[in-house]
Amino acid sequence: MAPRKLAAGNWKMNGNLAALDEIDVLIAAQPAPGCDVLICPPAVLLHPLKARVGDKAIALGGQDCHAKASGAHTGDISAAQLKDAGAAFVILGHSERRADHGETDAVVAAKAAAAHDAGLTAIICVGETEAQRDNGQTLALIASQLDGSIPEGATATNTVIAYEPVWAIGTGRTPTNDQIAEVHALLRERLGGRIEDAAQVRLLYGGSVKPGNAAEIFAIANVDGALVGGASLKAADFGPIIAAL
Ligand code: G3P
Repeated sequence: MAPRKLAAGNWKMNGNLAALDEIDVLIAAQPAPGCDVLICPPAVLLHPLKARVGDKAIALGGQDCHAKASGAHTGDISAAQLKDAGAAFVILGHSERRADHGETDAVVAAKAAAAHDAGLTAIICVGETEAQRDNGQTLALIASQLDGSIPEGATATNTVIAYEPVWAIGTGRTPTNDQIAEVHALLRERLGGRIEDAAQVRLLYGGSVKPGNAAEIFAIANVDGALVGGASLKAADFGPIIAAL
């Protein structure tokens, strides 16, 4: 059986308390979504968002965590603290964190291990730059990012993989269906060597997913959902994407 689909919204460094009104609209529009729905707001909004969501079927996630469980790490947040604030997931190794904070595959793997230890599901991101794609390095790069970013003990329950081509993020450009299918097939096959229930690992596509292209992308083999940035901020956009799954 195919894994249950997941529509994940990554708010990045956007939103405030007033923006949480969008969640009310989303809940009203999707009283019983046919897929899992996840919102990853800035960490300061997790707690109020949890209160707003109540017992509705919307999961919450962080956008990063520290590899250590606690200690003298000013400005950082541990996986356990995310969990305490209501998160069940955490996005790790997003290309913006890899670029802005120099996160390597090893760092991502250590953070993912910490997330697992705290009982969170890690959404591990991989993706090539435009230059890497132009140079024919995409598949080798994705394979190596995947191998290096997954910790020991990863399972289909505690791990989700998101393929986000860097050049498709926030640009309105997306790979062709064949290009997405090729990478997702590689991810599935490669996970088989690492994870016993690899067929059940959810593989998300991310990068300029919009209401207008969601259904087509979700129909691609081995695409089990999406990691959505800009279009997750407004219920009027995210709602139709959830409905397309
Ligand atoms: O993590 C989601 C993201 O990087 C994609 O962003 O705005 O292109 O949907 P966007």
